[in-house]
Amino acid sequence: MKKNVIFIEAPGGSDKGPDGHRRDTMPMVNAVRAQGWQAEAIFYTDDKRDEILQYIVDNFDAYVPRVNPGTIPNGEQLFFEMLRKASDAGVIGMPHPDAMIGYGAKDALVRLRDTDLVPSNTFAYYTLEELKENFPSSLSQGERVLKQNRGSTGEGIWRVAIADERPHRPGDVLPLDTAIKCTEAVDNHVEMRQLGEFMDFCNQYLAGDGGMMVDMPFMPRIKEGEIRILLVGHNPIFVVHKKPAESEDAFSATLFSGARYRYDAPADWPDLIQLFQENVDVITAKLGGWNIPLIWTADFMLDWDEAGNDKYVLGEINCSCVGFTSHLDSGIQDKVADEIIRVITAEKGA
Ligand SMILES: Nc1ncnc2c1ncn2[C@@H]1O[C@H](COP(=O)(O)OP(=O)(O)O)[C@@H](O)[C@H]1O
Ligand SMILES: [Mg+2]
Repeated sequence: MKKNVIFIEAPGGSDKGPDGHRRDTMPMVNAVRAQGWQAEAIFYTDDKRDEILQYIVDNFDAYVPRVNPGTIPNGEQLFFEMLRKASDAGVIGMPHPDAMIGYGAKDALVRLRDTDLVPSNTFAYYTLEELKENFPSSLSQGERVLKQNRGSTGEGIWRVAIADERPHRPGDVLPLDTAIKCTEAVDNHVEMRQLGEFMDFCNQYLAGDGGMMVDMPFMPRIKEGEIRILLVGHNPIFVVHKKPAESEDAFSATLFSGARYRYDAPADWPDLIQLFQENVDVITAKLGGWNIPLIWTADFMLDWDEAGNDKYVLGEINCSCVGFTSHLDSGIQDKVADEIIRVITAEKGA
């Protein structure tokens, strides 16, 4: 064990403070150092990847990627490849790039649909054919949300409702000329469209690398807010309650669309936290068996169970460079340092 941890950033992007680092990076570096370990932050660029890989493998027990998606000009492919090689050489990924991909992908919901966290009638489509095969009957069962995999701002996240005069029964295969009302989460704007033409439009989300759409029931109680848990390893740190704008069609929890945020303590949401903690080992197992992510979020919506009690439905998980800049004063960096040292010590011995 080298007792040495490297934090990896990429230059540029909109997430940097006056010292050129993300505002949450040096607090974490310093928190690791405060425990008597070594830590440093470096900047990754594609052209230096071989040199950086060698440096990481020679000197560190673990790496902590702190690169926001979109920051590296030519995409994250080469960066992730370098991290995979570092892990193959024994450096612990916190998290490993394939864990970031696996947890963050929208089809993680489908992998969790036989748990209590996700409705069983949640589907993933990887081709236009699969969308066209299943969506006309899933929509006949009720209002749906179709989510693209890429992006994180509500773009390509469509609430779809039937707006046709003709009667239908649940389970019917709706005709392609069915009138539908589509609302996009990015800004809650509404488009009146036809089913067949809309599915063709969705091909843009299905084509190419990582293209997919997830189809899940629309949760009307999203009006009461989306509830995000931020965790460090197994420990819930805070809860963000994101209430969509009040307008008629609004269902989006993004700030851009007018949602309001409130920060709560985990103790304010005991049922949700308990549910999550009961399921956390199942989540990590079903999403690939990676180490529990270092800093991650899970977003929930409210529903009712058969008895009319509150029930929580998972909407998405993210562990790609989750930030906590809003909470530097509350000592999250110390918990991050504890978790880093816990994992390294468990894996590499005292
Ligand atoms: N099943 C659903 N029912 C109701 N609203 C939903 C549902 N899924 C997503 N939303 C709303 O759409 C927003 C964007 O969806 P999300 O899955 O978080 O994608 P993104 O990656 O764009 O953040 C959520 O914040 C939530 O407000
Ligand atoms: Mg989201």
